[in-house]
Amino acid sequence: MSDHELRVSKIRDGTVIDHIRAGQALNVLAILGIRGASGETVSVGMNVPSDRMASKDIVKVEGRELSQDEVDVLSLIAPEATINIVREYEVVEKQQLESPDRVVGVLSCPNRNCITNADEPVETAFDVLADGVRCEYCETIVRDDLASHIAVE
Ligand code: CTP
Ligand code: ZN
Repeated sequence: MSDHELRVSKIRDGTVIDHIRAGQALNVLAILGIRGASGETVSVGMNVPSDRMASKDIVKVEGRELSQDEVDVLSLIAPEATINIVREYEVVEKQQLESPDRVVGVLSCPNRNCITNADEPVETAFDVLADGVRCEYCETIVRDDLASHIAVE
């Protein structure tokens, strides 16, 4: 994209999540725990024209790099996204997401009777399927709206 088409400013330090499938930006923000009151500087572009995709979403979070857990969940809902780490205005690292085999300690199980929801110190663990995730303890399958199952810290 040439400079005169730039919609969202470049950032100095932080993370750019690029090539997000159009429509997923708000789920990406949910996964990163970004709400209006969290005080972070965040820029969001939605339905931005892209040469690689018909249109894309993009999220730029200033002053922070993502944890591996966050990257794992992101790859579930935005497997086509690219994570760019920016330092002093330069992209110093570019990570192409791929779906993980399993996600540990990030999603919560919707089954109230699952051991992970009891008063036990059991971390959640889900196997990743082609079209969703399956709890390793009770085998409940979650297919829709994974972002709403992010375990609240
Ligand atoms: N970016 C940014 N601030 C910077 C540097 C880059 O916001 N200081 C953004 C760019 O606008 C772009 C993304 O980070 O959306 C990746 O930057 P770059 O690798 O320079 O762009 P491309 O080569 O187009 O990336 P790709 O090949 O992944 O499409
Ligand atoms: Zn379960």
